[in-house]
This record gives sequence, C-alpha cells and structure tokens, in this order.
Amino acid sequence: MYRTHTCGELNATNIGQTVTLAGWLQRSRDLGGMTFIDLRDRYGITQLAFNMETNADLCEKARRLGREYVLQVTGTVIERASKNSKIPTGEIEIEVSDLNVLNAAKTPPFTIEDQSDGGDDLRMRYRYLDLRRNPVRRNLEMRHRMAMLVRNYLSDRNFLEIETPMLIKSTPEGARDFVVPSRMNPGEFYALPQSPQQYKQLLMVSGFDRYFQIVRCFRDEDLRADRQPEFTQIDCEMSFVHQEDVLDMFEGLAKHLFREMKGIEFDKFPRITWHDAMRRFGSDKPDIRFGMEFVELNDVTKGHGFGLFDGAELVVGICAQGCADYTRKQLDALTDFVKRPQVGAGGMVYIKYNADGSFKSSVDKFYDATALKAIADKMGAHPGDLMLILCGPAMKTRVQLCALRLEMGQQLGLRDPQKFAPLWVIDFPLLEWDDETQRFYAMHHPFTAPKPEDEALLDDPSRWGDIRANAYDIVMNGCEVGGGSIRIHDRTLQNKMFHTLGFTDESAAAQFGFLMDAFTYGAPPHAGLAFGFDRLCSIFAGADSIRDFIAFPKNNSGRDVMSGSPSPIAQDQLDELQIKVDLKG
Ligand code: AMO
Repeated sequence: MYRTHTCGELNATNIGQTVTLAGWLQRSRDLGGMTFIDLRDRYGITQLAFNMETNADLCEKARRLGREYVLQVTGTVIERASKNSKIPTGEIEIEVSDLNVLNAAKTPPFTIEDQSDGGDDLRMRYRYLDLRRNPVRRNLEMRHRMAMLVRNYLSDRNFLEIETPMLIKSTPEGARDFVVPSRMNPGEFYALPQSPQQYKQLLMVSGFDRYFQIVRCFRDEDLRADRQPEFTQIDCEMSFVHQEDVLDMFEGLAKHLFREMKGIEFDKFPRITWHDAMRRFGSDKPDIRFGMEFVELNDVTKGHGFGLFDGAELVVGICAQGCADYTRKQLDALTDFVKRPQVGAGGMVYIKYNADGSFKSSVDKFYDATALKAIADKMGAHPGDLMLILCGPAMKTRVQLCALRLEMGQQLGLRDPQKFAPLWVIDFPLLEWDDETQRFYAMHHPFTAPKPEDEALLDDPSRWGDIRANAYDIVMNGCEVGGGSIRIHDRTLQNKMFHTLGFTDESAAAQFGFLMDAFTYGAPPHAGLAFGFDRLCSIFAGADSIRDFIAFPKNNSGRDVMSGSPSPIAQDQLDELQIKVDLKG
C-alpha cells in the first residue's frame, strides 16, 4: 500500500498508530536537534518530525530534501508539543521511521502557497504547479461538487444526459466558429459547436422529452474575464412545456445549488422585462444587489437654458446616498471615468444635496435652488446625497449610466461578492439591428419564438425592432449566467423567421435543412436553456474571473501559454489537408 491515510485526515484519535503517507514537501524547518517537514497532498498538510538524537541518519536525509520533492514516509502518530489549531491535523505529527524519496523536484518557479509570489503569466505557464495551490484546487473541487449536484438534480427529474457531436456544420449566425479541416473531404471544414442548440432540438423531435448535457462549447470571440474561447454549458431542453415550466425547473435548479453550496434559501426570483431592465438599470443583466435605480429627468431638467439637457433625447440620473461630501477630486475622477472611451459619455452633471439642505451643482448657472430641489424630489434624494446625471441618445445614455452606477456601487462597497441577487430578465427583443451590416440579427438565435401576440409584426418590417421574444436570461450579480427560449416548432413560422434574417429559401435550406426537415416529422413544442457553468462557478465563489474555475484556461489572446497553442503545423500536415497558408502582412 502506497499510503494508509491522506495528509488531511490524521488527528488526536490516531495517536499511537503506525501510518504511511505520501505527498509533496511543502516546507521544511531545521531546528538543529529536530527537523520538521510539512507534507502536502490534495487533502491537507501533516507535519513530519525527524529527531537528530534518535535517528541521526534519517534526520540528515530529511534535511537534504528540497521543496516539492515527492515523499513516502512511515512512522508513528504522536501528539505535537506545540499544536496548530488552524489545521485539522494540527494536534499531531508523525515521528518518522522510514523515508522514501519517490521523486526529486526542481525548485518551482513560484511558491506553492495560498498567496503565491508568481505573477499571472508565470502561474499560467506552469499551470500544473498553480493547480497544487489551495485556492485553485478548492475552485476545481467546488466545480466538481456543483456538477454532481446538477447531474443528480436533473437526472432525478427524468432528464437524460446525451452527448452531441463536437464536429458539426458551420453556421453563419452567432459568434465566429472555430473550424476544423477535414482530410477526407479536402476543402471542407467542420465547426466546433458554439452550443448543441440544433442537436438538442433534434433530440426533442426524437422524443427524448428532457435532455441535458454538461458540455464544452467553442466561440471565437474577443475574450474578457467572463469569456473563454472554450467554456462549459449546462445545456438543457424540454418538450411539452410553457415558459413558466422552464423558468420553474431551472429556478429550482439554481435554488438547489444555492441551498446545497451556500446554505442560502431564496424566495421566488424577481422577474423583470428586458425593457424595464434597460430603463431602470441600463443593462439586460442588472446587478440588483443594490438600488441606485435610474430616474428619468426630462420633465424637471428641460427649459432652463442648459443646452445639453434641452437638446438631449434623455436626461437620466442616479442618486448616491450619503455621497454629498464627495470632493472635487472624486467628482473629477467620476467625470473622467464616464468620459473613458469604454464608457463614452461626453460629460457628467453632479448635484450635491448638502446636509444643511443647500445645493451645489455643476450647473448652478442654469438651475436655482428651487429647480435643483425639484430634481432632488424627483430622484427621491435627501440631504447628504449626491446626484449624478448623464444625457444624450436614450439607449446609449442608459448604457453609460449603467457603467457609472456599477462604478459607484463598487466604490461604495455595495457589490459584496458574498451576497447573491438572482433574477430573470424576460421578454427580450426577438431581433437586434446591426448598424455595420445594416440588417437585423436574431438577438438570441434564429430558433427563438416570438411572443404569440407579437407574431403578426413579422409581416411589417418597420416594426421588426418591436417584436418581443419568448426568451429569458437568468442573471446573478450583474452577470448573465444562463439564457434560453421557447423554440419555433412550426415550419412556416421558422421559414418566416429565416426570411426576416435575410436568408433565401436556398440558403436557409443549405444551412438548416436537416432541422427544417426534422420539423416536418412531428416536432413537439419545446423550449430550453443553457447555464454558463464556468460563470455559475465563479459567481458562487464570489470571484470575478472564470479562469480560476477552469483547469487549463486560455489567456486573453486565446493562447494556452503552457502548451504553446495555437501553433503553426508542419508542412506535410498542411499538404495532407490540402491547405495553403498565405499569411498577408
Ligand atoms: P447563450 O449563447 O446565451 O445561449 O449561452 C448560454 C450561456 O453560456 C455562457 N457563455 C459563456 N461563458 C463563458 N465564455 C463564453 N465565451 C460564453 N458564451 C456564453 C453564458 C450564457 O448565458 N443555445 C443557447 C441556449 C438555449 O437557447 O438553450 C445558448 O448557447 O452564461
């Protein structure tokens, strides 16, 4: 037997037992007469003791070992002289009688400790060492527990986990595909799935009724903290359901996870329509851990001779409670913040509602105390509060104010990562106009059903932007953790949708013919949803980046700096694939 116990399980009840442990040398301390080694494995740390007086040879041997050596030791569990109440094994140590070096190790390029001295790049290059550190290991353990809870929850409710292909047909909708050349079919390419969307709909046609899959998806898009080129979805689909059934089922799953992982019970998740979310928070993924809701101010700001407000489509503000004492410097910093290209506002107006009831604003020239009081009343502001106001085209201004609201929330400590605020955003627009290509795109995907009451608007191109979809997102702490929709199961409606998206009969048939054909053989009404599993894990852990919840993630340029991918391939591989690489510039 390599080991009788792990390094995390021995305690005072084991005193007197002879045990064998195996693990890595975390740290050693040479105190002259005694040498101590912390032996680490996945489960914890156990102190090994070597006594110069009783076993000089072994003690000498122990002193020569370096960090991260792989060791096997046998010895007796004894009570420690100085106990460590911080770790479960802190009452005991092992008086070692036999030491076997299983493998030597080079000194690692950074310390394998909770607070490592390794920078991001270095830790990513040696990710297998980074994964030895407790915080990262704990993240993956948490991810595993979440996956097990999800599987059991869904399996208990008759969902079947069914795998779908990874080499599929490329489709032009959605994000960019990663493509894979086919050697046997020169000049032809598979795509890696952006999601199993079409296959899960086919499984509904096949009668599988309730499907799920914890599945890798691939999207060639610009990366951010919450986006990876390959990521994992909890992908689900159900037949014979209304929207209410789907929301109930997956709200149930989310609540189950909160209960089991966090011990938190939730009432019914709030629901907000997409339009209200945009109006009240300037975002389709509002962070509702805090208030500071938008207040539209057109009626109390216009007509005072302030040209910027008078000419703006929308004047809208937020009220930061208790911030009237913000200094000039702080206010300038906020103005700089909204003027950054990423936010893009022209400027910011502030009104301080001083504790003594007086006002001080950046627009005192145009608004007297009465006018400022009217704005304050509209915003529900009290003495001591600070009002921040933006103006411009409605949607753009809302999005800019959203950035400012989140920044204020951050500055005021209102975005506590250990607080959780889930909600549903429903009634998304079906179609989204793209200025660049001058056409409408499906906001979710082309299989999403319009709301029955809005279906007739498909016949009037001037109203396409107003059509609402039976589409919903689940949002937590300002992050979209999942999304789905009721699907179109009627072929005529699906054809109409393809035409709306600019497909001809031929191009729709070429792209989606197999799905359309399938729908002629009795497609049941169906609907579904996919959670972003990496995002769900990071939110549950109160972390910003999904990278720490993926064993081997890519960096911001989509590179795996450890293995060095992507990389050029050999000429004979290219020849075999009949691919000519002609890099321009
Ligand atoms: P959608 O495109 O909204 O829907 O994706 C579902 C969820 O996946 C997560 N996600 C990502 N996570 C990490 N990195 C990425 N690059 C990334 N892209 C998306 C998000 C998102 O909410 N087939 C539909 C679902 C359906 O209709 O059933 C789909 O893929 O959390």
